[in-house]
Amino acid sequence: MEFDTIIHDGTVVTANEIFETDIVIREGRIVALAERLSGGATRIDAGGRLVMHGGIEAHAHIAQESAAGIMGADDYYTGSVSAAFGGNSTFIPFAAQHRGQSIDDVIATYDARAAQSVLDYSYHLIVTDPTPEALNHQLPRAFKRGITSFKGFMTYDLMNIGDDGMLNIMTVAKKYGVMTMVHAENKGMVKWMNARLAEAGLTAPKYHAQSRPELAEEEAINRAISLSKLIDAPLFIVHASTEGGAAIVQREKVAGARIYAETCPQYLAFTRADLDKPGMEGAKFICSPPVRDQRTQAVLWGHVRMGTFESVSSDHAPYRYDETGKFMNGVDIPYPKVAKGMPGIAARLPHLFSEGVLKGRITAQQFVALKATNAARTFGVTRKGSITPGFDADIAIWNPEQRRRITLADQHDNMDYTPFEGMELTGVPEIVINHGNIIVETGKLKAREGQGQFVTRAPVDMDARKGHLAKELDPSQNFRAGIRP
Ligand code: URP
Ligand code: ZN
Ligand code: ZN
Ligand code: ZN
Repeated sequence: MEFDTIIHDGTVVTANEIFETDIVIREGRIVALAERLSGGATRIDAGGRLVMHGGIEAHAHIAQESAAGIMGADDYYTGSVSAAFGGNSTFIPFAAQHRGQSIDDVIATYDARAAQSVLDYSYHLIVTDPTPEALNHQLPRAFKRGITSFKGFMTYDLMNIGDDGMLNIMTVAKKYGVMTMVHAENKGMVKWMNARLAEAGLTAPKYHAQSRPELAEEEAINRAISLSKLIDAPLFIVHASTEGGAAIVQREKVAGARIYAETCPQYLAFTRADLDKPGMEGAKFICSPPVRDQRTQAVLWGHVRMGTFESVSSDHAPYRYDETGKFMNGVDIPYPKVAKGMPGIAARLPHLFSEGVLKGRITAQQFVALKATNAARTFGVTRKGSITPGFDADIAIWNPEQRRRITLADQHDNMDYTPFEGMELTGVPEIVINHGNIIVETGKLKAREGQGQFVTRAPVDMDARKGHLAKELDPSQNFRAGIRP
């Protein structure tokens, strides 16, 4: 057999199994799992290491302007490099529509930006302006490009699309086999809380947590799920941060609703005490939904273990701690004017491995499911997510014993801070391979800018069960007519 690379002597961990094998790679694909093979141009000795699928980061804001016009600090080069150093081999950032912009224009814009990526990539499309033209023509075209997830916001004045807008998007999504994602927070509650806190002069970063109460997320998650159940469209709840929200997701899953969800490292690692750091330091921890408390962290870890969440995703939203980012609207500003979001694309997996696997909260197999396999299945990445012959050779080789203190420098992003600074974590992704190419090797970047490829995704959640709509109104009538990207 001809082949390019053998990964020799590693302990392979998949979402289901742990076993010893060599992995044989040819032309970017895994071609065999075998023993005692010799040859191959490259032989990687993975003795004493864990060999896993590379991370598939399903929630990141890369080269994305906020609705208020603030460009995040990472472009597709720095963002993908940072992801790679964090053990990811593929990522799916957002491509965000500004109101008035056509979806075709959004995709063309992000295609140009993503041409810098060192990793394979796709996009989730953020829809802020679901006009009839967008719904009937532009979104179907996006689907035919292999973009099989659309996201809607229930909060933010410049982004939310209302319950009817969510229903319209879910209807198109169901028709084609697309996943709808939702940022679920009650817009009115947040607005009202902001006004009350402003009246009382309570505008320091720590009040960000109070301004977006747990109830705002719980209510919106419940409502979003109700909307999805009306038409029985699948729904993915992003960045769930509350005990109540997670409980609703769990209950609805058990009841058979087509609900998927993620939480993020910040809700497992930080609390509102971090928002109360001296001066404006707390602004480094402002993200939405806000970080909560220690009790919530423990409950969320329980849900990570129980399978309530498909993934733990970074929600990497990098705004520098300066006038280009957090303080775009000025220094010493009230919390609502601070750019919202935290970096973490390089810290997600080291944190989840160290705090999750090594502390006995999840198994190594769950780690693989939460970092890659479930995201691949949920979002239609059919040739990635598993160490299986025929699949892309996207692999991360981890040293499970190396201990280190997190620094900004080893995030390799374009940020001037990391919220994880100083945290002691064990386990380092030493070698990261995307499509058979070594991207990162023992702290060194081996990739060329632009070598990542766009990943065409397949329809998702093919199960076309009936919702509460009359048959004549059910969008899935057209669903199995063989429409494929
Ligand atoms: O605070 C965050 N997560 N910023 C990114 C925008 C969003 O809410 O998804
Ligand atoms: Zn061997
Ligand atoms: Zn969000
Ligand atoms: Zn986000």
